[in-house]
Amino acid sequence: MTAPTRTPATTANGTAPVSAPRSPAGSSARSSTELIAAERPVLAHNYHPLPVVVARAEGVWVEDVEGHRYLDMLAGYSALNFGHRHPALIEAAHRQLDQLTLTSRAFHNDRLAGFAEGLAALTGLDMVLPMNTGAEAVESGIKVARKWAYDVKGVPADQATIVVAADNFHGRTTTIVGFSNDETARAGFGPFAPGFRVVPYNDLAALEAAVDETTAAVLIEPIQGEAGVNIPDDGYLSGVRDLTRRTGCLFIADEIQSGLGRTGTTLAVDHESVLPDVLLLGKALGGGIVPVSAVVARREVLDVLGPGQHGSTFGGNPLSAAVGSAVIDLLATGDFQRRAAELGEVLRTGLTALTGKGVNGFRARGLWAGVDIDPALGTGREISERLLREGVLVKDTHGSTIRLAPPLTITCEELESALAGLERALG
Ligand SMILES: Cc1ncc(COP(=O)(O)O)c(C=O)c1O
Repeated sequence: MTAPTRTPATTANGTAPVSAPRSPAGSSARSSTELIAAERPVLAHNYHPLPVVVARAEGVWVEDVEGHRYLDMLAGYSALNFGHRHPALIEAAHRQLDQLTLTSRAFHNDRLAGFAEGLAALTGLDMVLPMNTGAEAVESGIKVARKWAYDVKGVPADQATIVVAADNFHGRTTTIVGFSNDETARAGFGPFAPGFRVVPYNDLAALEAAVDETTAAVLIEPIQGEAGVNIPDDGYLSGVRDLTRRTGCLFIADEIQSGLGRTGTTLAVDHESVLPDVLLLGKALGGGIVPVSAVVARREVLDVLGPGQHGSTFGGNPLSAAVGSAVIDLLATGDFQRRAAELGEVLRTGLTALTGKGVNGFRARGLWAGVDIDPALGTGREISERLLREGVLVKDTHGSTIRLAPPLTITCEELESALAGLERALG
């Protein structure tokens, strides 16, 4: 691997570049090249990062060890919806660090009630189960749905099924990869948990055929992010809502990547005015500071859990609750959703202009796009590397598709400069 080759003179936004490679006070004494080489013998190779070593960040900008600046168009897979180090979130974290950071759920803490009340009010649901990572929220949602099926619906013991969609991405635990159809994610990790049925995404008839009296829940992403920002047809989400209500099973929406402002609304299901029984939230809920996830559900569903049946040492800790509450306050203004919707039009216009000029097609909603690059121009990885040299950070998904998901705090000018960087990378 090599260090980034772009020079500071080519910053994507046209602002004054950081003058020259430098080693700011407090930063690592080792160069990017040295740090990348140092990782190899001691870090598991479960990622293939772009060759950039980030040392600082503010808003939509990150800076590497040498002082080169890059526009972050990935935003931590939407964990950084409010940008890096949003002042309100940093302040909430600092304040909480000075008070109390961890109690475990063996005791109450004075931040948790407010966090749960805020999340219930934001989503229109009743109860919250706080966890940490996205995969944990999904696992917890599965457990709760099965318990609900036995306790409330009356499914015979150990017979509950959950219907999921092909090309899903819900995380990396063994249960979750067990119902993935991505062979790279699955192969070598079996045996897998039974009880899942996989149907094609965006296909209500297939879903209807898979649901029966054993079905505890239908678990889907309202937009499939990792699959390339796959947006279902209008009517699919409301169709899932109708079908699950009619057949007496739960609708679980995994909004871990699609939720919390990304698509121009608080939740992606809001585009069809649908309220699932269970929402899975994560990523941006932690404000880019701490891992925070949650299962948010109707009372009848989350009320099935009793003491000792589920838990997490860190879930609901006061630091996470304080940051999560500050995130909810930001979303309650509606400003971020509005920005995502308005700037989403700029993104759409820019990608439309590039269609036929290296872009074969794209799918976009709000500030989120899956962009299919002409395979003749390179793989998604190669395009991402070219964009890196243009000072723009993105991530490929599959094949020649890249994903754009900037912080929702991005300005119109910054977004247009990123699109100009993409145009150059395709040239
Ligand atoms: C829709 C969805 N669900 C779950 C997850 C897993 O989240 P985590 O990586 O925090 O476990 C992801 C991560 O990308 C995701 O996109």
